[in-house]
Amino acid sequence: MKQEHIPLLCCLECRAPLALVREPAPVMAGPEIEYGALECQACRTRYPIVQGVGVFFPTSLLPDYLTPRERQTALTYGVEVPPSQDEGVDDLEKRQIATARNWSYQWNVAERYGRDDLDGDLWFGEEAFFLFIPLPKERIRDRVAVVWCGGRGRETYHLHKCGSRLVVVVEIGDEIYAIRDQLDPGAEVLLLRADMTKSPLREGVADISICDHALQHVSDHQKGYANLVAALRPGGLAAVNVYSHENNWVMTGVVEPLKPLLHRLPLRALHYLSYVPGAVLYALLRWFYAPLNRLLPPSQAARLPLNSNMVYWAEKKKTLRLVSNTIFDLVHAPISYHFRQQEMEALARANGVRVAYLKNINQTTWTLVGIKQ
Ligand SMILES: C[S@@+](CC[C@H](N)C(=O)[O-])C[C@H]1O[C@@H](n2cnc3c(N)ncnc32)[C@H](O)[C@@H]1O
Repeated sequence: MKQEHIPLLCCLECRAPLALVREPAPVMAGPEIEYGALECQACRTRYPIVQGVGVFFPTSLLPDYLTPRERQTALTYGVEVPPSQDEGVDDLEKRQIATARNWSYQWNVAERYGRDDLDGDLWFGEEAFFLFIPLPKERIRDRVAVVWCGGRGRETYHLHKCGSRLVVVVEIGDEIYAIRDQLDPGAEVLLLRADMTKSPLREGVADISICDHALQHVSDHQKGYANLVAALRPGGLAAVNVYSHENNWVMTGVVEPLKPLLHRLPLRALHYLSYVPGAVLYALLRWFYAPLNRLLPPSQAARLPLNSNMVYWAEKKKTLRLVSNTIFDLVHAPISYHFRQQEMEALARANGVRVAYLKNINQTTWTLVGIKQ
């Protein structure tokens, strides 16, 4: 985080401006504030900055989210961290906390992709990014983009490659600390560890606001989408990709009903167990879908169950590891919502977004790109 980024932010509690705490002095690396704290100029709430990442959680939830290093920095810079209290936290909030924990495992342990993967042509590459978030490249160059639920940095990397002026990332999990390492030195990025439903971003600061493969995992997706749009200036582009309800019978009819059972397993066990259906699916992709799609006329191949999704997986998830990790991703999510087309249209309408593009991609997700009015 740099000093010039601070005016883009505000207090979670009262939305007042923030200022850098001078005492104790922040730790700087050139223009980057590596360690320190921001303080609300009205209510005096403090937010730690850890390894350049602004950490923004409501005070009462800090014990549930902070890593040991974040806690240490918070204490050094006078951030109040109350004792953990299980009782005050409602069930949905607990599932949101579990969401952060699960994806921390996914991106820090199970699927630690890096620059080679981002430059490759599989799922982490540029082509896959633009399939789900189909923004014109010329609308990215020199613009300020916000990536909501940015994971380990896939979207941030591709937006930077297209010449974004600044990419702001809001991500609830500690995988956000991996993002800077993926970028070229000097790439302008503002990293915020926060829940997108409790956003520290000021309104109207961005030209592009995107959330890819993630809004379905947010405790209150309506609030999350409202914040995504609020961050945009009028005329800005909002792009999301989410699970679709339509056609997605494997998720709604099989995976979701099994989750109460599967979620009794430790996460690591669930990860390794995912290699069992992963191996079956991997075999199906290689020895059933791929050859049949070469042999059959397209109109007949299209009749195979979930054909477009399977063809896509055969092409972009070429290894057993990628297929199994995708299954793990689908089964571990503590919160998953499946959107209907009308709900997508209603989300846009309710937030003053004119729909420019709405498409069911690979029969399992909706992509909605709209323009803030
Ligand atoms: C399926 S992953 C997608 C990550 C990234 N968008 C990508 O496609 O590579 C979902 C991400 O959403 C994040 N997430 C879930 N709920 C969130 C919330 N309320 N606020 C911010 N991030 C959230 C998770 O931590 C996880 O990294």
